[in-house]
Amino acid sequence: MIAVLLVGGQGTRLRPLTYALPKPMLPVVERPMIARVVEWLASYGVTTAVLSLGYQPDAFVDAFPDGRFAGVELHYAVEREPLDTAGAIRFAALDAGVAGETLVVVNGDVLTDLDLASLYKFHQGTGGAATIALTPVEDPSAYGVVPTDPDGRVLAFIEKPARDEAPTNRINAGTYILEPSVVDGIPSGRPVSIEREVFPRLVGQDELYALDSDVYWLDTGTPERYLQAQFDIVRGVRAPCHMPPCVKRADGVFVAAGALLEGEVEGCAYVGKAASVAHGARVRDVVVGASAHVASGATVRDSVLLPGAVVREGATVVGSVVGPSAVIGAGARVSSGSVVGAAALVADGAVLDSARHPV
Ligand code: GDD
Ligand code: MG
Repeated sequence: MIAVLLVGGQGTRLRPLTYALPKPMLPVVERPMIARVVEWLASYGVTTAVLSLGYQPDAFVDAFPDGRFAGVELHYAVEREPLDTAGAIRFAALDAGVAGETLVVVNGDVLTDLDLASLYKFHQGTGGAATIALTPVEDPSAYGVVPTDPDGRVLAFIEKPARDEAPTNRINAGTYILEPSVVDGIPSGRPVSIEREVFPRLVGQDELYALDSDVYWLDTGTPERYLQAQFDIVRGVRAPCHMPPCVKRADGVFVAAGALLEGEVEGCAYVGKAASVAHGARVRDVVVGASAHVASGATVRDSVLLPGAVVREGATVVGSVVGPSAVIGAGARVSSGSVVGAAALVADGAVLDSARHPV
């Protein structure tokens, strides 16, 4: 099977983290999201993955310099300007010379245990030109909403409707099977959205089908969901194989090699390689990335510290993401879904509440 991974977006909702790293390269419990996505595809027999790139393509090429990962051959298709989702698929398929194949297409910011084999089988059974995987969500208004008939024929594709206008909570899970006719039919030379243009057209032609699934699924594209992706792994909502190498203490805290835990570490916590929590620090329900440091008198809760982040004496971090090598100054308070960028400095005593730093 050949897959196209849409990974060219700017990740605006995760700024400023995505100024330094494109969204799919951000770590989720120490592993770049894209590594997790490619491993999932590999487990279903995908042999080639075409990375549809636009924003910061070098980050991907540098991460996988030999063009292979998890036994999958990687092809890099770099757009000169953003072509939107369908334009990107067309460009990537032509660039990689796979436009004549049935393609698996995935949004690169989705983490899921979706059964790709069942989706493929269902697709072959319908004879339709395209099949979308569906997943239920609490609030469908941030997604593509997809009502179907009992046989899975798609009745409408409504991208990001108002909450009270969504006819169902089953949404586009961002995994598709596309026949070559779909790629052929995508107009060239301009941005084209698969959600707003291609899928609605296929609905009109009775060529679009969808299959429900209740397995683990998460779009990591907002700070809240980027945090959740990591807690889902540490809390065991997902299988243990998603954890990096570490030891589980008797109290359930996960500790990687060389981590130094002198302070209080409680709840669902992972402390990465060579990270440290100093005496007198309090840490609860966290992912502390490799070589990160929490100083004496600091408190970190419900948060992720990316590798090399430092929380200085007496600072508090709650419900927030601290970027790689960022420094939270002594006595500062960072809370409520704040996002601190890579290598950013939050001044001593500063207060960030639901804030982006730098903006
Ligand atoms: N190459 C390329 N070029 N990739 C792009 C472009 C582009 O112009 N625009 C977006 N992408 C990539 C993003 O990098 C991301 O991996 C994927 O396409 C989807 O974009 P998002 O920005 O994450 O979209 P979304 O989450 O708001 O909505 C999409 O995903 C939902 C499920 O997660 C839609 O497909 C929804 O219908 C769907 O429900
Ligand atoms: Mg998304």
